[in-house]
Amino acid sequence: MIKIRIPATSANLGAGFDALGLALSFYNYAEMEEWDRIEITSADGLDIPRDENNLVYVSAKDLYAVCGKKLPGIRLVQTSAIPMARGLGSSSACIVAGLAGANRMLGDPLSADDLVDLAAQIEGHPDNTAPAFLGGIVTAVFDGRKVHWVKQEVFTKLKFIAIIPDFELKTDKARACLPQEVSHKDAVYNLSRAALFSASLLTGKFENLRTAVHDRLHQPYRMELIPRAREVFDIAYTHGAYGVYISGAGPTIMAIADEDNTYFAGKVRFSLDNAGLGGWEVREFSIDNEGTRIVEE
Ligand code: HSE
Repeated sequence: MIKIRIPATSANLGAGFDALGLALSFYNYAEMEEWDRIEITSADGLDIPRDENNLVYVSAKDLYAVCGKKLPGIRLVQTSAIPMARGLGSSSACIVAGLAGANRMLGDPLSADDLVDLAAQIEGHPDNTAPAFLGGIVTAVFDGRKVHWVKQEVFTKLKFIAIIPDFELKTDKARACLPQEVSHKDAVYNLSRAALFSASLLTGKFENLRTAVHDRLHQPYRMELIPRAREVFDIAYTHGAYGVYISGAGPTIMAIADEDNTYFAGKVRFSLDNAGLGGWEVREFSIDNEGTRIVEE
């Protein structure tokens, strides 16, 4: 069996809606091989689809089809640490696992560019799938067929603290609440901040991040779908976060803090408990620069 490791991802990074994303040091694993039927198990006992609707299988089958082949079946064991429907790229991790695994099973016929394009076509936007595959921070434009992307490795003293609520928010619902049109002024508001985010992250001008994470395209609307989100933002800023944003479509709230802010996660945990938000989980990650890799075969 091939064993693949796929990182969690955090998309949008505030203002970079559908365009910016980064990979985190938090991983799903998928072991797979071609098989004569579909045999899917969860190594961690989670309730995952075990039939032809399984997203890893669907994506693997898509890659086979692109290469003019038919995938007869799959033997697949999934280890899914990334929580589902929380804004940490769990569905992108499945898509990328299926594509990377199928490509290896066929002897690597497709390039990294091909896989990034296919993943975005399956998911509909590239800001989780591209960093899940490539690692680092990825700036991506998806023109409907191809992804035009830049991956940058990040070596910073920043940590990313995911504050994960005990409820799900499906991406469909979090996209349905967005306006169809925005003003010219709001477009400028966002594009200037999205550009500022990656430039500041990569050059170490972290004092800009608080301004850079603001946006007018999605967070104000999604905030209403995440009860007590404003309080959580406030808690993270009180303890010295550089920037706080809704991760992907939410409901996870991501805080960026300096590694010298040693007890940041513990302080946030304590404040959440005090505010009656004990069900929210606090997890500390760094940026993963490697992306998806085959760890065994
Ligand atoms: N850019 C996407 C969104 C990420 O915000 O809807 C979630 O898939």
